[in-house]
Amino acid sequence: MEQSIETRCVQAGYRPGDGEPRQVPIIQSTTFRYETSEHMGQLFDLEASGYFYTRLQNPTNDAVAAKIASLEGGTAGMLTSSGQAANFFSVFNICETGGHVVASSTIYGGTFNLLAHTLLKMGIETTFVSPDCTSDELDAAFRPNTRCVFGETIANPALTVFDIEKFAAGRACARCAPHRRQHLPHARELPSHRVGCRHRDALHNQVHGRPRRCRGWRDR
Ligand SMILES: Cc1ncc(COP(=O)(O)O)c(C=O)c1O
Repeated sequence: MEQSIETRCVQAGYRPGDGEPRQVPIIQSTTFRYETSEHMGQLFDLEASGYFYTRLQNPTNDAVAAKIASLEGGTAGMLTSSGQAANFFSVFNICETGGHVVASSTIYGGTFNLLAHTLLKMGIETTFVSPDCTSDELDAAFRPNTRCVFGETIANPALTVFDIEKFAAGRACARCAPHRRQHLPHARELPSHRVGCRHRDALHNQVHGRPRRCRGWRDR
């Protein structure tokens, strides 16, 4: 039976078995134990699936990531410890040296710097355009090597609303609360989300997508 969005908000991402904690446990261990070094070797070589190092995968993070992916109809996701890490993974998953990004000019300052300076050093160039640009202005920003469109669905701090249809034409990395935008309408969309910021109790970001963009991510 298909669960409603309300049920998935509560239940998705974690299903305890008999005798297991009702609440998602906060697993703080950096490493995970295995009986043999052969098994550990298989994990390192990605021949076997399992947790072995928290920076790569952690059960608590995976539960949160799976919940968000479920809310938005994604296949898999991963949490990162900063917004720029999530945005970097989103863009770098699609672009490589020689690639080009079209981005809305009204995005978070750190993300602007990531695109304008950090990724530029890696050979990925960004053209910023006003979210209110005309179709002609937008067309002029695209190049043969444009690989990605980046915008914040509700920009911080400008609060401009990103017109995904206008900008993306099927290519987007966008941000907004997952329950507001379900089912990843664009097949090539790779959303990154700000999961916790102001409360200081959690600092997570998430990037997730559909199978084509999830290659290499281990789907749990
Ligand atoms: C849209 C957006 N992106 C990114 C961030 C934060 O990114 P970082 O964790 O890299 O500082 C924020 C924080 O408010 C944000 O609103």
